[in-house]
Amino acid sequence: TDGPLVLGIETSCDETGVGIVRGHTLLADAVASSVEEHARFGGVVPEVASRAHLEAMVPTLERAAETAGVRLHEVDAIAVTSGPGLAGALLVGVAAAKALAIGLGKPLYGVNHLAAHVAVDQLEHGSLPEPCLALLVSGGHSSLLQVTDITTGVDPMGATIDDAAGEAFDKVARLLGLPFPGGPHIDRAARDGDAAYVAFPRGLTSGRDMERHRFDFSFSGLKTAVARWVEARERAGEPVPVADVAAAFQEAVSDVLVRKALDAAATAGIDDLLIGGGVAANSRLRAMAVERAERVGVRVRVPRPGLCTDNGAMVAALGAELVARGRTPSSLDLPADSSQPV
Ligand code: KG4
Ligand code: ZN
Repeated sequence: TDGPLVLGIETSCDETGVGIVRGHTLLADAVASSVEEHARFGGVVPEVASRAHLEAMVPTLERAAETAGVRLHEVDAIAVTSGPGLAGALLVGVAAAKALAIGLGKPLYGVNHLAAHVAVDQLEHGSLPEPCLALLVSGGHSSLLQVTDITTGVDPMGATIDDAAGEAFDKVARLLGLPFPGGPHIDRAARDGDAAYVAFPRGLTSGRDMERHRFDFSFSGLKTAVARWVEARERAGEPVPVADVAAAFQEAVSDVLVRKALDAAATAGIDDLLIGGGVAANSRLRAMAVERAERVGVRVRVPRPGLCTDNGAMVAALGAELVARGRTPSSLDLPADSSQPV
């Protein structure tokens, strides 16, 4: 197959990712995670993440090159997440990318983490449908993006006004005594649960709140509702039905995400919905999105779970698109921007 050979580096949070792609073809996706070092703190500790990136960078680069069977001087470009994310963590990736770009004499492309979560889908399903509506749900973000051109035209329609969806999964998991990161554990526990066991609140879906925040999300009220419910049970000396609470919580999150995404798609007149980010690995969200979208004639694309969570291949995928579309490379003094808008 053809297309540019691009190496992508991702270090915005707790995953050190190095991916190599040729156009839309994935050649290597090496990921080293420091998640276990953060688990006992119940969340990602920035300094711990930065140090782990430093230690993992060179071995992960070597592993990716070996898997892809390419030598570094063969690549056409180096892409790197320049933001948003943890400042110190981003710096490690950006510094590594600059060193490679300078040392190999290759162009450098700083890419946006959110846009990369969208671009990764083309490694699985081919060229992105443009325009498309992207629902991006991860530990740090929950956004609805209108994508007209993945390299130049990604416009936010809405975002969370408090917690990110993944953050809600992680906090509720903690309440239920499940390990960090909680998303996959809730997903698993919910399989044996009754989603209708409790009707948890759907934030910003009715009344004035909905009018003011039609395409925005709010998950902190949901998290509080789950906490109150669990506390009441414990006070009464009754056992907490973990599977049922997990299923009911997951149902509430999925319902809001899918409802708002389809409303946004209809409003923007877009027939293609793309779901990305760590929470897109959730089995209930995936099934619900496919089922409801089909009813209204919207096509849904969700990358396989391994490509939904943070990785370097998504950065390489967007880098390849920037090269293929002839976009101007970044300057070698590319800054890491922790709050970079999409
Ligand atoms: O995209 P990601 O790897 O990192 C960020 O950019 O934040 O997303 C991580 C988030 C975590 O909050 C994790 O609990 C959640 O994605 N997650 C899931 C599932 N797998 C990962 N949430 C729900 N269901 C899952 N199966
Ligand atoms: Zn992410």
